[in-house]
Amino acid sequence: MSSTRWLERQLNDPYVAAAQASGYRSRAAFKLEEMDDKFRFLGRRKRVLDLGAAPGAWTQVNLARCPEGMVVAVDINEMEPIPGAVVLKLDVFAEDAVEKLRAEIGDVLDVVESDMAAPATGHPQTDHLRIMGLCEAALDLAGHFMTPGGTFVAKVLQGGAERELLNRLKRDFKEVKHFKPKASRSGSAEMYVVAMGYRAAAAPIKEQV
Ligand SMILES: C[S@@+](CC[C@H](N)C(=O)[O-])C[C@H]1O[C@@H](n2cnc3c(N)ncnc32)[C@H](O)[C@@H]1O
Repeated sequence: MSSTRWLERQLNDPYVAAAQASGYRSRAAFKLEEMDDKFRFLGRRKRVLDLGAAPGAWTQVNLARCPEGMVVAVDINEMEPIPGAVVLKLDVFAEDAVEKLRAEIGDVLDVVESDMAAPATGHPQTDHLRIMGLCEAALDLAGHFMTPGGTFVAKVLQGGAERELLNRLKRDFKEVKHFKPKASRSGSAEMYVVAMGYRAAAAPIKEQV
């Protein structure tokens, strides 16, 4: 998008103005607020992993809605610290991602969110594959920490989660929904998958024999 069109859109966007008025780091805050107003997965003591957190608007919402919980914000890029949150610069595909997260999180999370996106290539299939890869990486990480009953929220593209990913979500969670927040630009292909009611992780092998 040309910089003039971008500027025009920013100036005319009520969510940009509202974000500035509320002190949010970006308009993305309203997407998470809307999803939580509808599905109620955040809460006073919830422990949240916020993937693709920079510049930090979702982190701000998580902190406000989970004041006695824990918020771990992760991004591949540098992010300004936010008082109350643990901020980690980390690529979710890194080999030591689980280890680094475990050092901050301990063992248990109630909510795993991914608002991760790779820069758009303009080639829809490539963009789709990339976002699915990020979504799967987020789900893999969730599998290491998620408590039974937990929630997984991830950005996908229009058309929703791919069959294979959707099957995995339906196997691991009691309820799986797609949602397009009003704050998500209508022209954009982005939407979210919200999977609730994590079923207990598979029993360790030694208990299965
Ligand atoms: C749309 S922005 C997130 C906005 C954020 N939720 C907020 O509220 O401010 C997407 C983020 O995903 C991050 N990201 C992309 N690939 C990633 C990866 N492999 N690991 C971690 N973060 C990644 C990007 O650096 C970018 O900051």
